[in-house]
Amino acid sequence: MTEPSLWWREGIIYQIYPRSFSDSNGDGLGDLPGILSRLDYLADLGVDAIWLSPFYPTPDADFGYDVSDHTDVDPRFGSLADFDRLLDEAHARGLRVILDLVLNHTSDRHPWFLESRSSRENPRADWYLWRDRPNNWQSVFGGRAWTYVPERDQYYYHMFLPQQPDVNWRNPEVRRAQLDVVRFWLARGVDGFRLDVFNVYFKDEAFRENPFRPGLRAFDRQRHIYDADRPEMIPLLRELRAILDERPGRYAVGETFLSTPEKIIRYCGPDRLHAAFHFRFLRSPFAPRAFRKAIEEWERLYAEHGIWPNYVLGNHDVPRMATRYAHGEDDARLKVLMALLLTLRGTPFLYYGEEIGMRDIRLRRSEILDPPGRKYWPFYKGRDGCRSPMQWDDSPHAGFTTGTPWLPVHPNYTHRNVSSQQENPASLLNFTRQLIALRKEYAALRRGEFEFLPTPTRQVMLYRRREGDEEILIALNFVARPLRLSLPASVTARSWHTLLSTGTVFPSRPLTALDLDSYGVHILGTR
Ligand code: NOJ
Repeated sequence: MTEPSLWWREGIIYQIYPRSFSDSNGDGLGDLPGILSRLDYLADLGVDAIWLSPFYPTPDADFGYDVSDHTDVDPRFGSLADFDRLLDEAHARGLRVILDLVLNHTSDRHPWFLESRSSRENPRADWYLWRDRPNNWQSVFGGRAWTYVPERDQYYYHMFLPQQPDVNWRNPEVRRAQLDVVRFWLARGVDGFRLDVFNVYFKDEAFRENPFRPGLRAFDRQRHIYDADRPEMIPLLRELRAILDERPGRYAVGETFLSTPEKIIRYCGPDRLHAAFHFRFLRSPFAPRAFRKAIEEWERLYAEHGIWPNYVLGNHDVPRMATRYAHGEDDARLKVLMALLLTLRGTPFLYYGEEIGMRDIRLRRSEILDPPGRKYWPFYKGRDGCRSPMQWDDSPHAGFTTGTPWLPVHPNYTHRNVSSQQENPASLLNFTRQLIALRKEYAALRRGEFEFLPTPTRQVMLYRRREGDEEILIALNFVARPLRLSLPASVTARSWHTLLSTGTVFPSRPLTALDLDSYGVHILGTR
């Protein structure tokens, strides 16, 4: 048994975008009591932890990622008492709870910023990044990263929207206040954090200009060496880790902005973060080779630096995996990827609705809510597509709300929903649940060694997981026709039988070849 404090290595983390998960009071917006009412569903699915995207008070310029009070619940989502109840009930079901902490910036309506912007002399005058003249730094969401405030006759810096001013982490009072936010939630009993864009907390002290590089958007036409990844981050991570380590089993995963393997090496370790995202899967085409490269990269980070991998196929910032990979309403390709996600060595992250193959909604220009989508349409349509309400059943608004949902429900909800997939043994939901159950049953899948095996064709991925005597063989067919796959000598000596598959079931016997179904998933074991 792995130490319980290392739960996050073997556990599956399920991301909930609270406003789109389940609405308990009919205002069209999901809320904490709504999430509470769905905990049995999540426990039954078999995930180990939920990560809640921001539910703090917010003016919603960036849908919760502009926080106006870090230690409260936005009344539209419930109250602190609702949060405590949710936490207790989650824990009672063995589910851990991870919060999304947005500490790089606040809302421009946060009391800290209102005070800071009011004059150059107030007690919080230095809590944000103020300059007499802008430098060349750009905002990720378009335009330059500096906005003028007449009261101070100065500009403040915002890496994202003007409504999201970056705080000044160099100010010791800011640092204390921010770490107090961490302590506040830990004291309430949360199990960890996802740190929003943590690697941009510090900017160059002298505000040196970023050098040029070719790119499409103004933000991409710079090398981000002075507005990101500054050395001051490391001592801060040490301090943060020490706070987390005061209580056993607490975990922090960082959203590394502009992530690279080098940055992951720098930011993860026993005295810094437990994990940092690397989003290579999100850029992979549907081909074994591309996924294999990403896996090999993580395996290298693990072998050489002891950094436990993590895998992500979707989140609230990118088109859903079904939208990227599926053909129409067919889920065959999604089963291949779900099997991949849940049988690799590393922490899998699931984004709500992925387990039922939710697709992105399509919006007219006038319906778009996401600020970068409004700005860059039609070249970029923003992130609303992947944030539509969870599809629970075929009742009006998919059982998400009795009111008017804040974003439209996908029209496919009449057939694509939790309830109908629960009834269908061949559904993606049931397949996902079976994969999770298998992972729970076999230590080899949760923590065993990982090894790619050679295949004569590029259309298949074959790998083995091993823990002691336990061996699991995973064969994934990435094409829409059956294939015969001859097995390498290293595995033909043992007797294999199917543990889970999308079709053909092999009885226990030595195998020299496998007949893979079209888009087949074949997971075989020796016991
Ligand atoms: C990253 C978050 O994932 C994204 O949704 C948000 O817009 C930015 N950080 C700014 O907080």
